[in-house]
Amino acid sequence: MIGVINSLLLDYVKQKYGESMLQELVAHPVVPGDHQFRIDTYYSDSDWEELYHKAVNMVGIDREEFEWDFGYFCGDALVNQFPGFVKGCTGARDMITRQPKIHNAISHSLADHDAQKIVNNKFMLEEQGDKIIMHYVSVNHMCTFYRSLATWVGEHFNEQLSINEPRCMKQGHHECEIHVQYTK
Ligand code: HEM
Repeated sequence: MIGVINSLLLDYVKQKYGESMLQELVAHPVVPGDHQFRIDTYYSDSDWEELYHKAVNMVGIDREEFEWDFGYFCGDALVNQFPGFVKGCTGARDMITRQPKIHNAISHSLADHDAQKIVNNKFMLEEQGDKIIMHYVSVNHMCTFYRSLATWVGEHFNEQLSINEPRCMKQGHHECEIHVQYTK
């Protein structure tokens, strides 16, 4: 996972659950000594999973609930951190279509080419009339994060979206298939 999301996880825990929870989380050995995750660095997905599980277990709520709320938090944070990516979008469909390209653009700054490939292979977008189908395959199983961020995008552009996920890795399918229908 590129350090952007790891860093946002620390910000989220601090803002929502306070400094003492943050200190407990950063005590995890995958967190760098200075507690800073870098945007131009890839941290292994297995390290990410360990950190994420620790955060979810620490706060003691259901992972789905945590992930949905974290997705909204990231929407607000990403629009501030990367205003150019969002301002350039004409609406929800444009932003949701651009999302894999945004990820890939960020991964280009990584020196590690294997890591670039991992990032680029997680998402495959299919456009079908008034909907997109996202094919998502990742060991991180963050499809709820995807649906939450896509919902955030709809609200950001004040548009109605209908989102469902007929296939999910967490239900044993080989990929998550997320349908986003534009009802504007
Ligand atoms: C300004 C907009 C955005 C930026 C800068 C951004 C950036 C990133 C970065 C750097 C990662 C880590 C990628 C990796 O290491 O694989 C990530 C992960 C992710 N993002 Fe975004 N993102 C943006 C918008 C979105 C949107 C709109 C969605 C969904 C509709 C989304 C869904 C996800 C998901 C599901 C992951 C987790 C991938 C995984 O590791 O399995 N992102 N994002």
